[in-house]
Amino acid sequence: RSAPVITIDGPTASGKGTIAQRVARALGWHVLDSGALYRLTALAVLREGGDGSDEAQAARLARHLDARFESDTVFLGGEDVGRLIRQEAVGNLASRVAAWPAVREALLARQQDFRRAPGLVADGRDMGTVVFPDAPLKIFLDAGVEVRAQRRHKQLKDKGFSANLDDLLQDLRSRDARDRGRAHAPLVAAADAVTVDSSHQGIDDVVRQVLDLWSARG
Ligand code: C5P
Repeated sequence: RSAPVITIDGPTASGKGTIAQRVARALGWHVLDSGALYRLTALAVLREGGDGSDEAQAARLARHLDARFESDTVFLGGEDVGRLIRQEAVGNLASRVAAWPAVREALLARQQDFRRAPGLVADGRDMGTVVFPDAPLKIFLDAGVEVRAQRRHKQLKDKGFSANLDDLLQDLRSRDARDRGRAHAPLVAAADAVTVDSSHQGIDDVVRQVLDLWSARG
């Protein structure tokens, strides 16, 4: 387990996913979108007719998740669900099932398996605090909630989904509250994380900042 890891944690729609992919590409490293595992679990729950309130059901589905990641999409049981799991309904249910300790436990080893040479960039909520506590570089990527709502709104529209800005703002606020307030692995910056606020910075600037932090490190 000696491959280096850069963790990027932060609230919903802070730009973590895009930044993680770009940093990984620049370094030639692997990438872990840990939120996708929670989203896949949520989708599996939905497909069994569940609503996320049954911890045992969600944990069983998380443990047996037949997930396969490809460079630009993800498969669940052989079906390409890359687009489906981006829907707000799935994201909201993901944040509900993610509050169950048994679900987090079921996904822990699977996330750690992504750590392979030459290195890994992992994005999520607890990458630096729980999953890769020994990561040599930890980023906490923040942005104001209005900025995040606007970005998510644009992103959804660009992908052809309909979206209402006020609804998104409310969704983000309740998702933030749930992710920060939960008892297990809440969203919080690791003590040794560098906080980067992307509210007034473009993607390129943030990517450069992370790469600079990595090369300055050693
Ligand atoms: O990052 P993304 O929005 O795809 O994550 C969906 C949900 O999964 C989040 O709202 C959060 O509740 C949960 N999650 C988590 N821990 C992670 C990644 C995501 O609890 N490491």
